[in-house]
Amino acid sequence: MDATRSYPDAAAISALLLAWYDRHRRVLPWRALPGETADPYRVWLSEVMLQQTTVAAVRPRFAAWVARWPDFASLAAAEEAEVMAAWAGLGYYARARNLVAAAKAVVADHGGVFPQDEAVLRTLPGLGAYTAAAVAAIAFGRRAVVVDANVERVVARLFAIRQPLPQARVAIRAAADTITPDARAGDFAQAMMDLGSAICTPKKPSCLLCPLAAECRARHEGSPDALPVKAAKKAKPQRHGTIFWLERDGAVLLVTRPGKGLLGGMRALPTGPWSDAPPGLADAPVTADWQMRNATVAHGFTHFDIELALAVAGGQAHQAAEGEWWPIAELDRAGLPTLFAKAAAAIMRKDG
Ligand code: ADE
Repeated sequence: MDATRSYPDAAAISALLLAWYDRHRRVLPWRALPGETADPYRVWLSEVMLQQTTVAAVRPRFAAWVARWPDFASLAAAEEAEVMAAWAGLGYYARARNLVAAAKAVVADHGGVFPQDEAVLRTLPGLGAYTAAAVAAIAFGRRAVVVDANVERVVARLFAIRQPLPQARVAIRAAADTITPDARAGDFAQAMMDLGSAICTPKKPSCLLCPLAAECRARHEGSPDALPVKAAKKAKPQRHGTIFWLERDGAVLLVTRPGKGLLGGMRALPTGPWSDAPPGLADAPVTADWQMRNATVAHGFTHFDIELALAVAGGQAHQAAEGEWWPIAELDRAGLPTLFAKAAAAIMRKDG
């Protein structure tokens, strides 16, 4: 380490990183090729899909989505229930509801044209600090400080920020601001993401291949892989519940979950309340000859884990049940969230 200079050097970083990006940028379906102009709709949609979801998982879903709803106008006119079903399996379903709401706002309040200004973008449903900055930079080339989990890691290492996350976010953002260039801000943001995903990985970063190694304070100080430091995670509470599979004439009863709350607005199998207590049959949708299966379904949400017992009943006597009778052979078209798709698969395997 050269004691006569400070690390990292902001101007050096953006020049080195952009030169690396010009050689190694990933080709992604939502990304403009060099010399092309990005489509703001595709940039926005991809950034929303990529929150909490990997590039590999997003690729096919993105392709199917833009084939069906290629622009703001088509998405604004879409049936919300169809959009929610198309999001099935991606999780964090408020994202899908917000996509429709934002598309409607773009059409109604902005003449169908996506606003370019980061502050105006933030007024749209679902556009938080990250998405507004990413869209402003990537779709419109505006200077914006774009910090996702990859960027957080790269910056924590470049500046050797040793404070634990999440408290370190303020310092990381301020440091990211000092290295964000005025020109090519979108390329810079995506270069940081590509570097984080390919080279500056959480474990065993490939420092020998890193274009920023000479500027990286954590590398000079040793053990960049120890950063960022994360505060110890709280143990997640364990909840319990029961999923009810009610079958009639080759169809199963599905309900639509209430609009607010977890998995809100999604089609689902009926469940009782989710609680700390062991599950029971008291909250079944109808009185029937419920049989408990041996298998249970486990699923992790952000703030709790859940284990659900499976109760099954059949026969003819369930006219009173409220919901949709969905043909079991077409269940994969119902748009069930992963938890319920897992339950259906377990029940249909008959080993549950
Ligand atoms: N993750 C989130 N946004 C991304 C982007 N634009 N390019 C690559 N990875 C990303």
